[in-house]
Amino acid sequence: MKFTLKVWRQASPTSAGRLETYQATDIPSDASFLEMIDIVNDHLEESGKEPIAFAHDCREGICGSCSMMIDGVAHGPVKGAATCQVHMRTFTDGQEITIEPWRSAAFPVLKDLITDRAAFDRIIQAGGYISAPTGGARDANEILVAKTDSDAAMDAAACIGCGACVAACPNGSASLFTAAKVAHLGRLPQGQPERYKRVEAMVAQMDSEHFGHCTLYGECQEACPKQISIDVIAQMNRDYIVAMATRKPEMSGSSGNG
Ligand code: SF4
Ligand code: FES
Repeated sequence: MKFTLKVWRQASPTSAGRLETYQATDIPSDASFLEMIDIVNDHLEESGKEPIAFAHDCREGICGSCSMMIDGVAHGPVKGAATCQVHMRTFTDGQEITIEPWRSAAFPVLKDLITDRAAFDRIIQAGGYISAPTGGARDANEILVAKTDSDAAMDAAACIGCGACVAACPNGSASLFTAAKVAHLGRLPQGQPERYKRVEAMVAQMDSEHFGHCTLYGECQEACPKQISIDVIAQMNRDYIVAMATRKPEMSGSSGNG
């Protein structure tokens, strides 16, 4: 197969970017989208040109690194798949394909297709953890969890932190990502001690990272490679309201951590 690629090239966060055109030739139909870029990069390097920079790690839909816009769609045309899980047989032979990085104020471009998604790490650091000691493997029935809760927690835990939800959202909201983390831990017994502190801290961090607000467009759910439902946003909002309603007033003059 062969394709004409229009690829965003940007040397550094501060330099101007532009779309450049490359020919991808002799591409096996079973090649993944990233393998197709590998082949193009081999040709670029052979001719002494700088290869296209893109992030990748697992290439199995697990790590969330392979974030890119393909013809204006986050992760490309296959629903419920990360870019690394998209195969070239999905496209038409001879097709022109435009490849760009995520476009969001909260995800500045580092180089070509690579964006800085450390804002997600800071949201996790704000509260996406539990303090309950888990230690080694416990007896399976020692802590009973209702199947509806374990299913909902597992669905939310499928989030790979790729950022497609942010890139697809007209507001650049990180609500689906943050809510997936809140809902995952908030549905399990081990997540209860910090449940309301967690949602307050993660939402505060999300708001301080230049993400937009959620107005329920639903584009995030459409773009998510793990098909996480916007139901998690409803749960995050419910927990947030409880957190605000039950919040203890801060002591005047308190250092805050006593
Ligand atoms: S919610 Fe979906 S789209 Fe957003 S970061 Fe998680 S896996 Fe990616
Ligand atoms: S490279 Fe890990 S999800 Fe695509």
